[in-house]
Amino acid sequence: MNARDRLIFALDVNSTDEALDLVRLLAAEVGVFKVGLELFVAEGPAVLEQIKRAGARAVFLDLKLHDIPATMRAAAKAAAALGVDYLTCHCEQAGIFAGLDLGRTRLLAVTVLTSLGPEDLKAAGYPPALQDPRALVLHRARLALAAGAAGVVCSGQEAAGVRQALGGDALVVCPGIRPAAKPGTSADDQKRIVTPEQALAAGASHIVVGRPIRQAGDPVQAARQVVEGIRLGLGVPAAD
Ligand code: C5P
Repeated sequence: MNARDRLIFALDVNSTDEALDLVRLLAAEVGVFKVGLELFVAEGPAVLEQIKRAGARAVFLDLKLHDIPATMRAAAKAAAALGVDYLTCHCEQAGIFAGLDLGRTRLLAVTVLTSLGPEDLKAAGYPPALQDPRALVLHRARLALAAGAAGVVCSGQEAAGVRQALGGDALVVCPGIRPAAKPGTSADDQKRIVTPEQALAAGASHIVVGRPIRQAGDPVQAARQVVEGIRLGLGVPAAD
């Protein structure tokens, strides 16, 4: 896998036209295009095929499924039938996906959203031992693998612990990526943020980047800089 294949770009827009413009612009820089709730709810499954035809080599369907086991299994099968490469879910029960054939679709379990910090976990009623996101992420990451997921979604701040706990084969996907802080740079609604380089050095297999590329003056250049950060984090030379 080269550095570019590890970059997942979030198509957080609400129309097929906007999504296709971004895919055409960034197809040469980005390995995976992510369709989230906003675009999927607005445009339906047809958008997945259209972004593939526009040049996306891999598609990530970020539905963050959360329901009873029978509904989760059925929804995961239906999503896999759409031919996506990655699908997200929440997993709170071991064995939930045991024996489920999803073809080439790889299930990723969301651990703790990168927009949440310790104060949010406290407010949500978690006991003190689980108010540290690192502890809750590790607990859920182990549960996710036992549930049959191929990997997890967590912040780069937890990636090293997760990689150590899950071993080398698990996918560790990190959103909440912000290239090195510059004056005036905001973290938007993300709280547990790291740079691309830090995430990869900590053991992430992939990173998810949306606004830092989409809202850049030159999105192509911004994507190239993120890929360069990935290379630096992996310690590989520029032309891999
Ligand atoms: O714009 P930004 O780079 O913050 O986008 C991050 C993307 O990653 C969004 O599409 C968001 O839905 C997704 N995501 C996240 N935290 C998670 C799982 C997914 O930010 N735990």
